[in-house]
Amino acid sequence: MPDKHFVIPRQDINREDFTSSIPDFNRRSEFMKTDMGHKCIITNIVRLTEQEKLFKLRIIDPHEQGIFRFKPGQFLMLELPGYGDVPISISSSNSNHEFLELCIRKAGHVTSALFTLSEGAHVAIRGPFGSSFPMDEMAGNNVLLIAGGLGIAPLRAPLFWISEHRERFLNVAVLYGVKEPSQLLFTYQFDEWEKINHITLHTIAEHAEAGWRGKSGMITDLFQDISIDSEHTYAIVCGPPVMFKVVCSYLDNLGIPMNRMFVSLERRMHCGMGKCCRCMVGSTFTCVDGPVFDYWSVMNLKEAI
Ligand SMILES: Cc1cc2nc3c(=O)[nH]c(=O)nc-3n(C[C@H](O)[C@H](O)[C@H](O)COP(=O)(O)OP(=O)(O)OC[C@H]3O[C@@H](n4cnc5c(N)ncnc54)[C@H](O)[C@@H]3O)c2cc1C
Ligand code: FES
Repeated sequence: MPDKHFVIPRQDINREDFTSSIPDFNRRSEFMKTDMGHKCIITNIVRLTEQEKLFKLRIIDPHEQGIFRFKPGQFLMLELPGYGDVPISISSSNSNHEFLELCIRKAGHVTSALFTLSEGAHVAIRGPFGSSFPMDEMAGNNVLLIAGGLGIAPLRAPLFWISEHRERFLNVAVLYGVKEPSQLLFTYQFDEWEKINHITLHTIAEHAEAGWRGKSGMITDLFQDISIDSEHTYAIVCGPPVMFKVVCSYLDNLGIPMNRMFVSLERRMHCGMGKCCRCMVGSTFTCVDGPVFDYWSVMNLKEAI
């Protein structure tokens, strides 16, 4: 029986010598071919919490809209003319070709400017960029989707994918932790996930507020509520590095192989296509080789977390 700690890595980056390898700029330049910008109109803005809004965008040119396709886990560069561009995960279903949903937290310069926009405003997008979650590979298994805070944003696209292909999966559970209950996002979809899509949802808040009747504690406390068949389970873990590090080592102890756990890494990005080197970790480009990596690869990336 193979030792789970020594599964063959899925990605080549595991075998790179980080100190001596030189980025292959010729290979990266291939990605420039995908750098097509699309003008978009903001058709709808929903305030989810004090800090986050959901922006619904439609690509204005019908031809460009017709050819724009993405995979769950990919991101795009959202450009606000005069302010700059920011990498944002696509948070909607990839089967919806009419609009894109982006769940955005007000963090600084560009995102604050975005928060001043109204419906009807124009922005631009480039992409989609990066790697995606291996949805087909996960089919036939149980799936744990584990989100900390804003981590539910990149997790929503695979969640839509699973809901639309529900018969291809065994048990599916979402474990979702936040600091305060008022920070829970997409609460209006909880019933749909549970009752229509048969996805078990477990939420937890670190600090309970008045009126909160759910669980209080850390996200790992939710593992007491579920049983895990480690032989047939995949996990997608999205959230701050400190959270996915703890969660992934917990799952590792439960016997889930590291190459069946997937995380999405966040780095400062500028071009999104392997050109500017801003997102590099060792010789790995987070924008092109990631942002989705299996946990084995992340463990082998120096300074990734
Ligand atoms: C692949 C990817 C997907 C992302 N998806 C989302 C998403 O779906 N929703 C969302 O709200 N945000 C997402 N982010 C983070 C988002 O890109 C940053 O919050 C944004 O770039 C901040 O830009 P700003 O000009 O508003 O802030 P700045 O003025 O540039 O910075 C404000 C603060 O945000 C921090 N910050 C800036 N850029 C990043 C970054 N790339 N990652 C982490 N912290 C950063 C800075 O350190 C600083 O503390 C994603 C980042 C990546 C790399
Ligand atoms: S963001 Fe420019 S190389 Fe990755």
